Amino acid sequence: MIDFQSILTSINKAASKEKDRGEIADYIPELAKIDVENFGIHLIDIKQNNFSAGNSDMHFSIQSISKVFSLSMALGLIGEKIWKRVDVEPSGDPFNHLSLLELENGIPRNPLINPGAIVVADILVSQLENPKKDFLAFIRNIANDNTIDFDLDVARSEQETGFRNFAAANLLKSYGNLNNDVDVVLDFYFHQCSLSMSCAQLTNTFYMFINHGKCKRENTFLTIPQVKRINAIMLTCGFYDEAGEFAFEVGLPGKSGVGGGIVALLPNKFCVATWSPGLNPKGNSKLGMLALEKLTTETQLSIF
Ligand code: DON
Repeated sequence: MIDFQSILTSINKAASKEKDRGEIADYIPELAKIDVENFGIHLIDIKQNNFSAGNSDMHFSIQSISKVFSLSMALGLIGEKIWKRVDVEPSGDPFNHLSLLELENGIPRNPLINPGAIVVADILVSQLENPKKDFLAFIRNIANDNTIDFDLDVARSEQETGFRNFAAANLLKSYGNLNNDVDVVLDFYFHQCSLSMSCAQLTNTFYMFINHGKCKRENTFLTIPQVKRINAIMLTCGFYDEAGEFAFEVGLPGKSGVGGGIVALLPNKFCVATWSPGLNPKGNSKLGMLALEKLTTETQLSIF
């Protein structure tokens, strides 16, 4: 039996001593207020045993991690048709780059880079009666947790400064790959990114990706083939131009956000979330990546 708790405790201890913690994302001004000293980690195993260390219950802005939830909801609603509007190839580019979008005629490389997530947001805006409310209800339902909410200050902050996302949405619109108004789609997208959750809540919500599409209460949200697809996209595209490095160091599908969160998972075994707001130059949490490398090396558990 692996002693997850003692491994997490030692990861937290090592993180607390780390001097070089990376840079906080400040292009969303509200995120710049967070203390770089925070570190949390939470792991849930397939039997729903929980292990944690550090600030694992503290809420933070999950940002791009939310792209996995919006993709899951959109895939559940419109099925395979989604792939006509967004591809499934790694971009090798930073999350906010637009050059490939123009080169490839408005079809984003994958749903986890910003232009791809904006197309997914457009699909949800078209499909849902009350997009923000229905999306939040979906998350609360998967997590079995009605306390999860948007952080309206973060959403507003990004709305005021998200010029590149406005550029991406306008470019998509010019190629006919955005059906709704740019402002409406981005309002949804900025709210989805502003979701505020703890490491513990994230592992509850991602549990279905280790459990064949069934959430903790055994309700089914995704089919087994859909889970396969989303886990594959996380592995190949979840860390943008650092997806190769993450697979190499950690060896798990996962997703990061500029709030400093990372979720990673091993199907049938465990799901883990880390939070440390300092980012490396590629926009992924510096200590989070080190922590997960340590976890998979010490447990000898990875998809490889
Ligand atoms: O659109 C943005 O730039 C942010 N709301 C999300 C970016 C993000 O989290 C990228 N992740 N590493």
